[in-house]
Amino acid sequence: MKNIVLLMTVAGSFVFASNGEALIKEKCATCHTLSIPTMEILPSFKAPPMDAVMFHMKDVIKGEKNLKAFIADYVYNPDVSKSVCESNKVQKFGVMPSQKGKVTQEELAFISDYMIATYPRKKFIQNLKEILKNDEITALRNSPFLINSENLPHMTKLLIQNWDKAKLGLSDVQKSQLIVIRKNTIGGIKKLKKQIKFLEFEIAEAMRDRESVESVEKEVEEVAKLKTEATMIHLKCIANTMAVLKDKQVAFLLPMWE
Ligand code: HEC
Repeated sequence: MKNIVLLMTVAGSFVFASNGEALIKEKCATCHTLSIPTMEILPSFKAPPMDAVMFHMKDVIKGEKNLKAFIADYVYNPDVSKSVCESNKVQKFGVMPSQKGKVTQEELAFISDYMIATYPRKKFIQNLKEILKNDEITALRNSPFLINSENLPHMTKLLIQNWDKAKLGLSDVQKSQLIVIRKNTIGGIKKLKKQIKFLEFEIAEAMRDRESVESVEKEVEEVAKLKTEATMIHLKCIANTMAVLKDKQVAFLLPMWE
């Protein structure tokens, strides 16, 4: 009797093991949601959704073999420096706890095959594109800069997203220099943004109250002056950051500047 039960469990787990979908639900879905994330459920997540994980992985790691190897390694030995996800997101969630002892490498092979074949789904990419577009419009609307060309990178944002990555390889000295640059940049721009917002509001009010265009000319000139100042801070931030980074690091962050 005992033997029959044992046999059944062994056979059962074998069938189970060959099913990547069942395994991912059992071993990974407690943290990584497998459904397409929506704005409403986003804040309750313990980890990035599987769609997002695979989106980043396929963006950075090319070829099925390399993807499988990355998953096999990361699930046992997670480390922020290896992560393909944005460093600030990893910091937000905390690094993934190692799943050594909770999932075997055989099971992981099935799981990763399933992950690679399934994610990211089309609908997720569509949603993501829409979110990014909306973010861009909002950023543009609130931008204190005169130049909003895509060719001028947002250095502090780029750095935050890649802060801990081994591929960028920031040294501690570089990090502390970059933190100072970031602090000065953000501090300066925050102050100007507030003044610009206030003036823009005043100008809109005046237009609403049918005041003459001439009556707001001074304010418009003031907005231009403040935006010039903010733009210069932005350019200085780029120049100062470039001075801290090595050529190789710039090439990693800004492949389009090559
Ligand atoms: C206890 C919660 C938890 C479980 C269980 C879990 N993960 Fe994660 N995982 C996380 C968190 C948190 C992150 C984001 C931080 C990070 O990247 O380390 C993450 C990130 C990842 C990443 C992205 C790595 C990167 O580049 O940042 C992969 C791949 C991954 N998990 C695979 C898996 C697989 C496969 C399973 C199931 C075998 C699994 N995880 C189970 C919490 C979990």
